[in-house]
Parts: sequence; C-alpha cells; structure tokens
Amino acid sequence: MSKPLSPKKSRPKHIAFIMDGNGRWAEQRGLSRLVGHRKGYQALRKIADTCLDLGIPCITFYAFSKENWKRPKEEVDGLQALFSKYLDENLTRENLAEARRRGLRFRMLGNLLDLPPYLRVKVRKILAKTRPNRGHILNVAFSYGGRAEIVEAAKKIAREVQKKKLKPGELTEEIFSRYLYTGGCPDPDLLIRTGGEFRVSNFLLYQIAYAEIYVTRTLWPDFQPRELKQAIREYQHRERRFGMTSAQIKSSARKV
Ligand code: FPP
Repeated sequence: MSKPLSPKKSRPKHIAFIMDGNGRWAEQRGLSRLVGHRKGYQALRKIADTCLDLGIPCITFYAFSKENWKRPKEEVDGLQALFSKYLDENLTRENLAEARRRGLRFRMLGNLLDLPPYLRVKVRKILAKTRPNRGHILNVAFSYGGRAEIVEAAKKIAREVQKKKLKPGELTEEIFSRYLYTGGCPDPDLLIRTGGEFRVSNFLLYQIAYAEIYVTRTLWPDFQPRELKQAIREYQHRERRFGMTSAQIKSSARKV
C-alpha cells in the first residue's frame, strides 16, 4: 500500500500525461510495438480511474500526435483501433451511467476531421452523451498538435473579429484560451512524462506555461497509481512562484 496523499495540501486541478515508452516496453520483451500500446491502454484506464478517485477535476492523455500519422500503417491502424475500443467501452449503457454518477465528461483534443468517419461518429456520440456531466473532464488528445491548436484558435478568433463579435483590442490571454481545445479546463498544474525524455513534444504548448513537470524513466505500461501519487506528492512540495519571489509567495500564503 502506498502512503495516502495529504488531504491538506492542494492537489493539481489538471494533470496531463505524455505516455511515452510503449514501444520500448514491447521491444525489451521481444513483442510487437502494438502489444506495448495495448498494455499502455490498460495503464491509461487504471491511471484515469485513480485520478478520478483522487478528485482530480481534469485529466488529459496524449494518445496520438499529428506527427504520429507518419508511423508504419500497422501501428497507426492499431492505435486507431485502441481509440475505437476506448470509445466503445465508455459508450456502453453501464459505463455511461457510471460517467453520469461520477460527473465525468469525455472530450477529444484534436481536429475531428483528421479521423476516419467511423471514429468521428463515436467521438461525436460520447461528446454529446457526456456533455451535461459536471465534475471531471477526461481529455484524450488524438491527432493533436500544440502549434496546430494555437493556429486553429487564431483562425476562430479572426472569424469572430470579422463577424464583429470580438474587437482585437479586447482579446486577452484568458479569452484566447477559451478558443483552445481545452477551453473550460484549467491549465495543467502537473505534466507527467514517462519514458525518461526531457521534451514537451508539441503538447499543450499554450497551456503548460506554468505547469510543474515530472519526468520518470518508468515506461508508460509500467506506470502505476503508486508512482502517480509520488508525482503528486513531489508537486505538493514544489514552490510555484508564477514569476514572483519566494518571499512574496510565503507572505501571501500566510494571509490566506
Ligand atoms: C508513445 O510511445 C506512445 C504513443 C504514440 C501512443 C500512446 C497510446 C496509448 C498509451 C494507448 C492508446 C490509448 C487510446 C485511448 C488511443 P512510443 O510508442 O513512441 O514509445 P517508444 O518511445 O518507447 O518507442
């Protein structure tokens, strides 16, 4: 049993995951990369459940980047099949009832039009069925690119300006963020990357401006709830200054 998290210290409101290392996990065992992704899918389900149990309001998983379309066809097909399985499993009557009970809303970060029609239908269905749920948001980024997301937001804003619904001078960082796929979610407080690489891989570029980053050498299929709690504990010990000095942060904490 891992140590329980302190109820007093603040938990992240949004945790984002770069689930790296499925391929290496499989290669180390002489298995195909697809077997690694399937194991990775099981880890995703377990970690998502743990986040919900811990009361994390928003969770984001990076499942497939815009650049991943360049991978071998067999791997791309396998990852789409896993996305389809994820949607089917969450669209069963029992799981939709469970999502309602937990107040869980599903979203996809990425352009729906990049997906084959059969996947688009399932994504639209899960978005519509869980839209009224309030409590948690579970985002899966699929065919996602951070730069593309910012460009898409800029285009939407330009159209609003053309229609005179927005004046350029009125645009703020807060308004801009509403046009991103994550609109309505707080920015990630904690970004967890498995697989040991120190990069952000075009993930949530606008949103992670002040995220605390936790990198572990653990490969994603081996990432367990115990290590998630360890990452949250480490996050709780970091001093988040948001550009201020340590003294300012301490004095504002005393006033609360
Ligand atoms: C990166 O590891 C991981 C991916 C490109 C896929 C991540 C997908 C899942 C964990 C499961 C899919 C879930 C859904 C909902 C679609 P890598 O394969 O590049 O690892 P490597 O660096 O070891 O090769």
